Amino acid sequence: MVVLDHVDKHYGSLHVLQDINLSIRRGEVVVVIGPSGSGKSTLCRTINRLETIDSGSIMLEGQPLPQEGKQLAKLRADVGMVFQSFNLFAHKTILENVTLGPTKVRKQSKSAAEKKARELLDRVGVGPQADKYPAQLSGGQQQRVAIARALAMEPKVMLFDEPTSALDPEMIKEVLDVMVDLAKQGMTMIVVTHEMGFARTAADRVVFMADGQIVEENTPEEFFTNPRSDRARDFLGKILKH
Ligand SMILES: Nc1ncnc2c1ncn2[C@@H]1O[C@H](COP(=O)(O)OP(=O)(O)O)[C@@H](O)[C@H]1O
Ligand SMILES: [Mg+2]
Repeated sequence: MVVLDHVDKHYGSLHVLQDINLSIRRGEVVVVIGPSGSGKSTLCRTINRLETIDSGSIMLEGQPLPQEGKQLAKLRADVGMVFQSFNLFAHKTILENVTLGPTKVRKQSKSAAEKKARELLDRVGVGPQADKYPAQLSGGQQQRVAIARALAMEPKVMLFDEPTSALDPEMIKEVLDVMVDLAKQGMTMIVVTHEMGFARTAADRVVFMADGQIVEENTPEEFFTNPRSDRARDFLGKILKH
């Protein structure tokens, strides 16, 4: 579904992605984990072309990522992204936030988009909030709306970049539960998270990044119980201590 082949990227003198090779099969859930600054967000951002790459290639369903124009807007719809901050439009209702993309980019009718949006909002457990504004919702509810908004575009792949790290602890589970459901339903997912419970329950594979490189790839079970590299052992030692 997604293939990164010898991908390199620099920010000035910083070699932020170094020869990244990664293939994600349809329906696969890949958790990306690693220290802050290792390039995880940059990796996600290159996959929906919020960032360009210097060399190598990224393919989505066998096609190179489009460079610009209409095709690029379609790519952004095909690759749903959920960030740490929810990025909902503050002056639009929850329902409008979810119907905006489908009506503007996918050219759906308003009534069809609203019907679909209400189904999705029900599915993520915020149906009753449809006519409220983002500020009237909790962080966990807003993040579930952000997931519904991405799903409304009928994406081929979903990218999650630390979707729970800005949430109060009691709201983390409600967001992770939605993501676990999505994984069970066969969505192809790339998830940057340090939530090991999620990785163990839902991930097919864990990719460990450090300093712009993929250092280690393994099943969650193997990775968490038996990390092979010193970098991964060191990192896990730090995050497991608290
Ligand atoms: N737009 C940018 N310009 C310059 N440097 C950047 C930019 N975005 C990220 N970086 C740097 O690239 C490195 C990787 O960042 P990032 O991909 O956000 O890492 P992570 O998500 O793993 O914490 C960091 O050193 C960061 O400071
Ligand atoms: Mg990041």
